[in-house]
Amino acid sequence: MPINKASLLVLESFVRQREGKGGRKLRLIFLGPPGSGKGTQASRLSQRFGIPQISTGDILREAVANKTEMGIKAKESMDNGELVSDDVIIGIICDRIVQTDCENGFILDGFPRTIVQAESFDKMIGEKNIPIDIVLSLDVSEEMVVRRLCGRTVCKECKTNYHLEFNPPKKKGVCSNCGGKLYHRPDDEEDVVRRRLKIYKETTEPLIGYYQQKGLLSVIDGTNEIENIFKQLVGVLEGI
Ligand code: AP5
Repeated sequence: MPINKASLLVLESFVRQREGKGGRKLRLIFLGPPGSGKGTQASRLSQRFGIPQISTGDILREAVANKTEMGIKAKESMDNGELVSDDVIIGIICDRIVQTDCENGFILDGFPRTIVQAESFDKMIGEKNIPIDIVLSLDVSEEMVVRRLCGRTVCKECKTNYHLEFNPPKKKGVCSNCGGKLYHRPDDEEDVVRRRLKIYKETTEPLIGYYQQKGLLSVIDGTNEIENIFKQLVGVLEGI
């Protein structure tokens, strides 16, 4: 079953709230291990709902590419598959969610990743009165993650994700979306992927319980095809 009953109830109650208030702002958090499809689905939902996808990984990679002070500090942790410090990440999010393009909502992809980040974020959104509507957790097995990440390529320009086998570009090495050059992320080598997964289990997975307790969590089967997961999410979020 792609979406379990409890998850469906959370999603349906969210849709009712949106409709009841004549179109509430949409604020989502994507949880899930590396390679679970957070970026893939967040990017599509961002286009569908017209709200920004905020990927802490993309923001950090841009800082690394531009050799900013933050990028230089973050590079070593990222290359080794370790987390960047909570202070840096909380600072990034604090600045980003108050920008004007977030007025109608946002999709967080890769944040929060620790209990400290989640608690700081709760404090921040409590003070600004911008509550989160729903937390979507994509569930996939470890071996599936390794297979997906070892075959992933990403566009240098528009950051669209591809997979050599599951989601290939029309032309090898070239982004079908913008024509940009595709590359393989250095942290997608198998040994680094396994380290990222270990850190996910130890540090990020506890957030599933954290958001479940708040009644915000919806667990989605992330092993279906990309298009099917997207249609399910959109179908429920739009109340179709
Ligand atoms: P980040 O870039 O956020 O990496 P991640 O969370 O490890 O997630 P990924 O981008 O690897 O995977 P994804 O779930 O988005 O999957 P995707 O859609 O691409 O973070 C990188 C680093 O930055 C971290 O290691 C850390 O150092 C640092 N960092 C970032 N945020 C931080 C934070 N909050 N705190 C501290 N440090 C932080 O899909 C993967 C592949 O699978 C693609 O090829 C895709 O085409 C394919 N695919 C997707 N869905 C499917 C499907 N349903 N079926 C088949 N293939 C699929």
